Amino acid sequence: MAFHKITITINDELEQVVVPSNMTLMRMLRETQALTGTKNGCSAGECGACTVLMNGEPVNSCMILAVECDGGVITTVEGLAHDRQLDPIQEAIIEAGGVQCGFCTPGILISSRALLNRNPNPSDEDIREALVGNLCRCTGYMRIVEAVKKAAGMKIVAAPIPMPSD
Ligand code: FES
Ligand code: FES
Repeated sequence: MAFHKITITINDELEQVVVPSNMTLMRMLRETQALTGTKNGCSAGECGACTVLMNGEPVNSCMILAVECDGGVITTVEGLAHDRQLDPIQEAIIEAGGVQCGFCTPGILISSRALLNRNPNPSDEDIREALVGNLCRCTGYMRIVEAVKKAAGMKIVAAPIPMPSD
């Protein structure tokens, strides 16, 4: 097995990590960075529980090799809050009661943040489309959609998510 040293920005911190060729981004985050908010629901790109932002776009981290992220910028659910201030989508999902067992929640928060970054005023249809890859077996989605709409009206105080060129 070959190993590679990669340089990667994770939640605003520049990291150098040695990873085996076959290690996924999801495993790297969970096993080398202790960022266990990124969940392993299926390891097959089906459930969205492992969703993170890669260079600002939501991706299934179980379907990407860590070596592919060399030079990239990753945001996990742990990186949404800044200065002890939750992201509006985190506050809104709590207020709306959009969390039950919570297993899907990190992925839903990341996909919702990505939507709100590109579309600050999404319709119900926009929200459902953005969350189509995030499966939730508990909530029935209505409260999650409500939370995203609520967050759209809230001021974001967190620092903007950095891009690779920043
Ligand atoms: S764990 Fe990655 S999509 Fe399910
Ligand atoms: S809250 Fe349980 S899977 Fe979504």
